[in-house]
Amino acid sequence: MKLWHRTNIDISDCYLPGLDMKEYLLSENTMQKHNTMFMEGSGGIWNIPAVEIFNDKFLGYMHDIAKTPISIVNCFMRWPHYQHPSAHYDCYEYEGEVIQHGGGLNWCWEPDNADMVWYKPSADADITTEKRRNIEMNVSVDIDDTLIELDRCNVGQTPTLVNTSEFHSVEMNDRMRIVLSLRFEWVVPWDQHLEVFKDYIVD
Ligand SMILES: [Fe+2]
Repeated sequence: MKLWHRTNIDISDCYLPGLDMKEYLLSENTMQKHNTMFMEGSGGIWNIPAVEIFNDKFLGYMHDIAKTPISIVNCFMRWPHYQHPSAHYDCYEYEGEVIQHGGGLNWCWEPDNADMVWYKPSADADITTEKRRNIEMNVSVDIDDTLIELDRCNVGQTPTLVNTSEFHSVEMNDRMRIVLSLRFEWVVPWDQHLEVFKDYIVD
């Protein structure tokens, strides 16, 4: 079961001049405006408008590819060796309806050596559903040896379509990991991501 695909989307000149993601994410202003979760030494989650990260040329290029603007850039930071105890799948509420959001276009800010890992829970696994905010649900399961590993991928610095509707987590290594995950609000199921980006998938 392949749950990720490398693309040849060009990110060689995508950022605003002088951007340092780590400094930007941890700045007081960004923390106040866009951070949704932060634990020093473990990890953080930010929802960032694309215009605060990318230059106009790249925004136009992505718009041409996806035929829709980037809705949000989810940024995830994890400290070396931090192992989150659970896996989750991405679930959001659109117009009153809760749906699994099937994919993101991900890459890491710097070279990293962690793996994104996908799991299938056993039939009797204890799956927790928690409503975190109005627009976001969290469906999670503890990572233990009853989970079956479905796939894994070191995303690295290649823009990679990743399936977010199966349970997933990150197996950290000894480097900090800052990942950018581009979300396209009207591209929802995984199959639709594959269709929209089909001319750019290389593996
Ligand atoms: Fe996720």
